[in-house]
Amino acid sequence: MPRHFLRDDSLTHDEQREVLTLAFELKKDRLARQPFAGPRAVAVLFDKSSTRTRVSFCVGIAELGGYPLVIDAAGSQIGRGESIEDTTRVLDRQVAAIVWRTFEQSRMRTMAALAQVPVINALTDEFHPCQVLADLQTVAEEFGGVGSLLGTKLAYLGDGANNMAHSYLLGCAVAGMDVAIAAPASHLPDQQILADATALARQHGGTVTVCADPAEAVAGARVVTTDAWVSMGMEAEREERQRPFVPYRVTRALMAQAEPDAIFLHCLPAYRGQEVDSEVIDGPASRVFQEAENRLHAQKALLCWLEETS
Ligand code: CP
Ligand code: NVA
Repeated sequence: MPRHFLRDDSLTHDEQREVLTLAFELKKDRLARQPFAGPRAVAVLFDKSSTRTRVSFCVGIAELGGYPLVIDAAGSQIGRGESIEDTTRVLDRQVAAIVWRTFEQSRMRTMAALAQVPVINALTDEFHPCQVLADLQTVAEEFGGVGSLLGTKLAYLGDGANNMAHSYLLGCAVAGMDVAIAAPASHLPDQQILADATALARQHGGTVTVCADPAEAVAGARVVTTDAWVSMGMEAEREERQRPFVPYRVTRALMAQAEPDAIFLHCLPAYRGQEVDSEVIDGPASRVFQEAENRLHAQKALLCWLEETS
């Protein structure tokens, strides 16, 4: 059976380390691995918009010797209601892996249950695990390698109920980090995901905390991060999503309460003046474009690892 990457805990602690170590190697030598030489095709499906994910998967698949077959919902039958099952059966006879950005996580599970090739979650409403792999690579680069993740504290501020919050909870817990989420009571993480992250953190020597106070979350943090207040698919809630998150905006004053060497991450796209001030995202602590580049290396490593393991 193929291995899939559906959420951050689809990889064990050791497997995550292997992928991150390979990501470091591939960053040094981008053409070192060619698992899709031929070229074999990898399907990259988008039910939602994307810039970084589209670019990094397409460039990455090409650098791995393969052919990136991009399919947008608007131009495909799945976008008109063809079943996930039939789409999967058509694709997996012809491609080496399927990368999919879609809505509910249950859609991803339906595809993975049937697919004869690895399925990779390129963002759902619940998770964005490829992003967090790249973020872990960025943190590791900054603080002395993959081993430095153990015990490093990451603070995420803002929408505690969205895909990034959930993926930080699981991905950082698998890595043995300390992860703190500061969010308003109206937008807290899913209880089951929080319980899963807490159990993983206990297993790997990290901690998970959820609080209302942004200053409490950033105390001791070497990584401060946030996300847009209005995620894709939530546009109808734009008005009501402005006020609750204002106290969680990442300002220079808030960064000053984190560790002196703290870095700022953001998955992007960012909205300056909303979830983060320009002087932070465009300032010396920001690593957001290094983080965006690391999508390429981390996802290539993941594709190689899944290909070898499946
Ligand atoms: N961070 C991220 O996934 O960006 P895109 O939506 O542009 O792919
Ligand atoms: N939470 C954001 C992440 C975008 C990469 C969204 O889902 O729109």
